[in-house]
Amino acid sequence: MKALVLESKKKLSLRDYPLDEKLGSTDVQIKIGACGICGSDIHFYRDGPKTFSGEESPMILGHEAAGTVIAKGGKVADFEVGDMVCMEPGIPQQWSRQVLEGMYNLDPHVVFWATPPVHGCLRETVIHPAQFCFKLPQGMTAAEGAMMEPLAIGIEAAKKAEIRPGDTGLVIGCGTIGVMCAVSALAGGCSKVFITDVKQEKLEIAAAYNKNIIPINTGSVNIQELIQKQTDGQGCDVLFEASGNPKVYPDFLQCAKRGGHAVLVGMMMEPVPIPVALLQGLGIKIEGIFRYVNCFDRAINLVKSGKIDVKQFISKTFTFDQSIQAYEYADAGHPSTIKVMIELDP
Ligand SMILES: NC(=O)c1ccc[n+]([C@@H]2O[C@H](COP(=O)([O-])OP(=O)(O)OC[C@H]3O[C@@H](n4cnc5c(N)ncnc54)[C@H](O)[C@@H]3O)[C@@H](O)[C@H]2O)c1
Ligand SMILES: [Zn+2]
Repeated sequence: MKALVLESKKKLSLRDYPLDEKLGSTDVQIKIGACGICGSDIHFYRDGPKTFSGEESPMILGHEAAGTVIAKGGKVADFEVGDMVCMEPGIPQQWSRQVLEGMYNLDPHVVFWATPPVHGCLRETVIHPAQFCFKLPQGMTAAEGAMMEPLAIGIEAAKKAEIRPGDTGLVIGCGTIGVMCAVSALAGGCSKVFITDVKQEKLEIAAAYNKNIIPINTGSVNIQELIQKQTDGQGCDVLFEASGNPKVYPDFLQCAKRGGHAVLVGMMMEPVPIPVALLQGLGIKIEGIFRYVNCFDRAINLVKSGKIDVKQFISKTFTFDQSIQAYEYADAGHPSTIKVMIELDP
């Protein structure tokens, strides 16, 4: 089938790729309608489709997708052919200890799209367990459906922050993940959310979304002083680190209110300094997140209810035939771009 294949570092081809997939009794087959480009896709694009042990073989990219059910296994009762669905990209192994303990995101045996050597979903069709598919409401587009994957990260972060009504939030980094944390924090009960970045254009997109998202360009201000001033010296109840930049440590933790929660979302490729005495003295609770647990239905519900609108964050759309161009565009990191989307069957 036609697929976007990462052959090796920065070498993509849109070509026929043979896949031996069979529809199981609990699976559905989906015609892909749209697929977003994620930071991890760009990471593999830049470094090549390498496994942890360094082996490299061609891999189909993409893990943020939605589409239309075109076939279903005999035991699938919840979906009909023609339904629009989005898909959770990781399939945990039912026998894993972590699944039994309710932490399926931490299953070391998870099979997750577009993590070498597992192929992704930027192709004409996929077969996926119905259990990890979620019906989209009438009127929701495949591109919006594809946004449910990054939104699920924001929702997981908001869950971990244990937001209480009226809390103030701070998000570091205004990329896709930071924006999803901000909109989830607002939907979860925050009265206002400060969001920082060094790219003014991204901050303007976030600020235009809702007047209670307050942009801060950290290129020009001292974040700690500003947050203290804006919160009457209290600090923020909930903090989300979503830049992935180790340089923001440890300073952003100084913006927390006593007893506040800090959720670490951005992945650090190197150790970062954590001020233990500050955490103890202020009673700050730290939580890390890894992907999500049972968040896709929540994400869809929030869009369906009008509490979250993801359309505004789809900055640039390409067709399937323009997929290579789309990756080159995403790799260039345009300051006014939040999400790059590829539409196969809009
Ligand atoms: N924990 C998880 O499960 C999970 C899931 C997905 C992504 N992530 C991680 O989340 C992070 C963000 O992902 P993304 O796709 O939004 O990346 P992104 O590159 O699109 O966004 C990061 C943003 O942070 C900004 N930034 C960099 N340095 C900054 C600083 N000092 N102060 C303020 N802003 C700064 C950048 O300008 C950029 O806009 C990455 O580290 C990614 O690996 C984690
Ligand atoms: Zn992603």
